[in-house]
Amino acid sequence: MKRSIYSGWVRKEHVGHKLVLCGWIHNRRHHGGVIFIDLRDREGVVQLVFHPERPDIFSKGEALRSEDVVEVIGEVRPRPEGTENPNLATGEVEIWVESLDLLNSSRTPPFEISEYSNASEDIRLQYRYLDLRRPPLQKNLILRHKVVQSTRDYLVKNGFLELETPFLTKSTPEGARDFLVPSRLSQGNFYALPQSPQLFKQLFMVAGFDRYYQIARCFRDEDLRADRQPEFTQIDIEMSFIEENDIIGVTEGLVKAVFKEALGKDIETPFLRLSYDEAMRRFGSDKPDMRYGLEIQDVSEVFKATGFKVFANALASGGVVRALCHKGGAEMSRTDIDKLTEWIKGFGAKGLAWVKVTDQGLESTITKFFTPEELAGLKAAAQAEAGDIIFFGADQPSVVASYLGALRVELAKRAGLNKSEGLYKFCWVVDFPLFEYSAEDKKWNSVHHPFTRPSPNDEEALLGGDDSKKDLTAFRSRAYDLVLNGTELGGGSLRIHKSALQNAVFKILGITPESARTKFGFLLDALEFGAPPHGGIALGLDRFVALLAGEDSIRDVIAYPKTQKGSDPMSGAPSPVEEGQLKDVGLRLAPVPPR
Ligand code: AMO
Ligand code: AMP
Repeated sequence: MKRSIYSGWVRKEHVGHKLVLCGWIHNRRHHGGVIFIDLRDREGVVQLVFHPERPDIFSKGEALRSEDVVEVIGEVRPRPEGTENPNLATGEVEIWVESLDLLNSSRTPPFEISEYSNASEDIRLQYRYLDLRRPPLQKNLILRHKVVQSTRDYLVKNGFLELETPFLTKSTPEGARDFLVPSRLSQGNFYALPQSPQLFKQLFMVAGFDRYYQIARCFRDEDLRADRQPEFTQIDIEMSFIEENDIIGVTEGLVKAVFKEALGKDIETPFLRLSYDEAMRRFGSDKPDMRYGLEIQDVSEVFKATGFKVFANALASGGVVRALCHKGGAEMSRTDIDKLTEWIKGFGAKGLAWVKVTDQGLESTITKFFTPEELAGLKAAAQAEAGDIIFFGADQPSVVASYLGALRVELAKRAGLNKSEGLYKFCWVVDFPLFEYSAEDKKWNSVHHPFTRPSPNDEEALLGGDDSKKDLTAFRSRAYDLVLNGTELGGGSLRIHKSALQNAVFKILGITPESARTKFGFLLDALEFGAPPHGGIALGLDRFVALLAGEDSIRDVIAYPKTQKGSDPMSGAPSPVEEGQLKDVGLRLAPVPPR
């Protein structure tokens, strides 16, 4: 018999109907000689009732075990008064079972299939198909489907074409390591799995496809964290004949449509825009969490003539003194402060000066170095009141921004300010620097990627003159990041569409003309055949869905994710391959170095 309806969809209006339901045995209770079983499918659970009046059915009910899969036929009845469950969508009804077919039995599952699981992640991933049966993960993947569906609807309605780009490709630098695939037909050569479809989407613009999108899988061999996986999915977009505002507008429209379709929520657009410099100064981050204030205040002016060495030395060497006022933090003990000081040294701080604000005035081991004017100026600048604690950073602006930014996030976490459920605070960060210097590599790198267009003034500067005379830190790019609740949701830029400018940027990045030709010859050629002005963006789909689902880790919104070590405990990947497979691609393994 054909299933009539999902278990989770049975309602009062079905009372009196005979339904065929298929699903898994969720849990079982005996009560007053009657067996109650929750039958579960992807849409929810419904209560089955096995009455002793039907001994044949009753004994089948008794024999059922958790996670057996069954087909039942039964009549929908209203639950007796007082036994309704208002927390359950099907809580007003139950199914009086008239026939039951055990389709397949289940071994005892290694963990309980329930709302919360305290099984280790390794076990959960090893039996991912069971983990995925758990209602929260079912909800997350259904939400993911809705996000993808509404993305497609919105972009198609706005004239975008869904086009595919290859997986077996040549590496596109997005800053991470490539996953390599050895070639059998051309031994000694390798494909790289794409870190993003960046160059191919730009070539679509050259080809005239003017509005492109793709739900694109990307591969990056980097260290994994809660918001990073070695393979992940982007909502990848590119447009021609546009400016920043066009892409920002399309993206805001997309995000608004997804919120409406997937969550039924209206969000306000346009989103706030902050320049990179302002974001770093006020929040110490290029992905500021705008759900709370906790703004960093510059107090250099207050301490410009200070006798406190730590501040005076920082200011004398061109640095700044900045303050972060933690409301109600004066209760922190010395031990807490010392622990915080040690922790923040990991972010480049040399120390963490502090002052407590009490009814008696400002208290600290360092207040003795401050004049009454400095103390008053500080209290005003930090907008501090009795009960607060003020922390200081004194160093070069970027160093202070980085560690006070980390402190801001940590203090917000401790105060629970990052747990405001249902609050979505977006912002755009714009006017990024074009280049950043890597002390480790002793060279300049692109902040976004090498195909990003410089701001109009900087274009000219890049094309002319002597590179050694250019202040590369001052160059700005036409890049933009979309930030949601302190997570970088996406990023994009207008692109360079002329080969001379592209070559000039490669030169600054230390890519020689020969190397540029070898790596990007196809792009440089394409830019010489009437490449239109273009630009785009990519949103991290996994991060987007995780934020919508209220999950901390993107692993909870990806069907088959990898562990922190990049492995899949279910299939056992990565795994050794047979000698013959290596031979086919002309590879021999070096001995594995001892760990
Ligand atoms: P970018 O490298 O900023 O830009 O990536 C865009 C977005 O992809 C998501 N993301 C990730 N999500 C999960 N795991 C990862 N390892 C991971 N890496 C990135 C983030 C990020 O904001 N080609 C450019 C886009 C463009 O210029 O159009 C690009 O890939 O949410
Ligand atoms: P010191 O003079 O090294 O004993 O430091 C006095 C106080 O200033 C201590 O609380 C240090 O943690 C703090 N401190 C030291 N260097 C810095 C810095 N660069 N920025 C902020 N606080 C600092």
